[in-house]
Amino acid sequence: MSKQKIVSFLFEKNYMVSPEILKKIPDSFDYDSFLQSHKNFQKSQTTILLTEEMFQNFFPPPQTVYSPFSTKIEIVDSYVDKPKKREVKDFVGYMKCRYASLKRFLLQRTELQGAISINKALTKNQKEAVALIGFVYKKEQTKNGNYILEIEDPTGIIKVLIGNKNEELLKVMDELVLDEVIGIVGTMGDGLVYVKEIIFPDIPMKEYKKAKDDVCVAFISDLHVGSKMFAKDEFEKFIDWLNLLYGSDEQKELAQKVKYLVISGDLIDGVGIYPGQEKELSISDIYGQYDALAKYLGSLRGDIKIVLCGGNHDALRLSEPQPPLSKEFAASLYALKNITIVSNPAMVRIHDMFDILIYHGYCFDYYMNNVESLRNAGAYDASDMMMEFVLKKRHIAPTHISSLYIPDIEKDSLVIEKVPDFFVTGHIHHDVKISSYKNVTLIGSCSFQYKTAFQEKLGHTNITWGKSSIINLKTRQIKIMDFRKEEMAEIVS
Ligand SMILES: [Fe+2]
Ligand SMILES: [Fe+2]
Repeated sequence: MSKQKIVSFLFEKNYMVSPEILKKIPDSFDYDSFLQSHKNFQKSQTTILLTEEMFQNFFPPPQTVYSPFSTKIEIVDSYVDKPKKREVKDFVGYMKCRYASLKRFLLQRTELQGAISINKALTKNQKEAVALIGFVYKKEQTKNGNYILEIEDPTGIIKVLIGNKNEELLKVMDELVLDEVIGIVGTMGDGLVYVKEIIFPDIPMKEYKKAKDDVCVAFISDLHVGSKMFAKDEFEKFIDWLNLLYGSDEQKELAQKVKYLVISGDLIDGVGIYPGQEKELSISDIYGQYDALAKYLGSLRGDIKIVLCGGNHDALRLSEPQPPLSKEFAASLYALKNITIVSNPAMVRIHDMFDILIYHGYCFDYYMNNVESLRNAGAYDASDMMMEFVLKKRHIAPTHISSLYIPDIEKDSLVIEKVPDFFVTGHIHHDVKISSYKNVTLIGSCSFQYKTAFQEKLGHTNITWGKSSIINLKTRQIKIMDFRKEEMAEIVS
């Protein structure tokens, strides 16, 4: 049987099929059963052009593609909100807790093995070697180009000096931010430390794992469903591609391997996010926006497991960590099978072996605008450098004012405790950026929203939408599928 037989069959019944619709018939389509089950299909009185909707009824998307292996998403770390009245002392407890976590990483460095508390350092004689661990409380550059930092730990504050001749350390100054926890190695001077080395908590080299199964993960972000600027056509093409209804045979073969879909926030455009937003919405309420998204995700092949978190446009508090989506607003998403809804940030393990750190990226705006090294690297066009930056600090939002946060005295959920295999973010709506840092694959996803008037006003020139990064877990090869083009372009990274 062939597609031609279907065309002849429908032609006899007075239905015309366009080549576009014909292309959407899945390769796995069972023509025999179709003809058998449509034996008594009534002939139309007039000639009808088969519409997209009629087509969906005739050829429903395949629900499952046979997998020779099992797929699994486990939650490694997802924040659970414990409603509690927060007091000033909770902020102190929260910072202590962050300090303890980051100090643990720093103490693993041989240079910092003998680190002492600041009150003890202040009793040391001049020229004695000293190592400390503390928060960057103040950073100032003097007229002659030296830097003076004030470093704080639970026992006190000490000044440290970075000389203007030390090129290496001056470079570090470009990426040093307030409130981050660092290690200082130097010698005592008169009430201050002459710095020889600055040590970031950083991550160790990660083992470069490969799965034995030929399986892929698709990454997307920032759908903004409900916005008039939602890139509907491109997103529908993406869904059709995953459902093996769109693309070349080779591209469909790739789609068939996709068993995991990761969406990193701004699922909907939300309501009341900025003044005048109501004029830019095609769906004016949150329930309707989540329902529309659930309809799309519910139409996906049944063998694709989805994991998603919220972002600053979702119906959640802005403070990070953001808990998982509300069960009331996003009930239609919770009703889907194959979906895992996590906090922002969160860590999940897929396929029993790969840890994915998912973070929407809300606080990135602050760093891209304020950190010299990130501005020099390309700011919004260098989301990979941004991710490398936070991995080095082992904290999603080290500077106090970069993000709203909820002080939790038991755990700072923004500390990057465990080193992931993949780190994925979104939010900035610029082009997809893929890179690697110490064997951690960094994926900066673009959006599925056209350029908005707000972005235009902010002067963003490189807004990009309609792309998905596909990572093969067996080969670790990455392809970027571009759904803006008639023929989906693939860029191999
Ligand atoms: Fe967004
Ligand atoms: Fe966002």
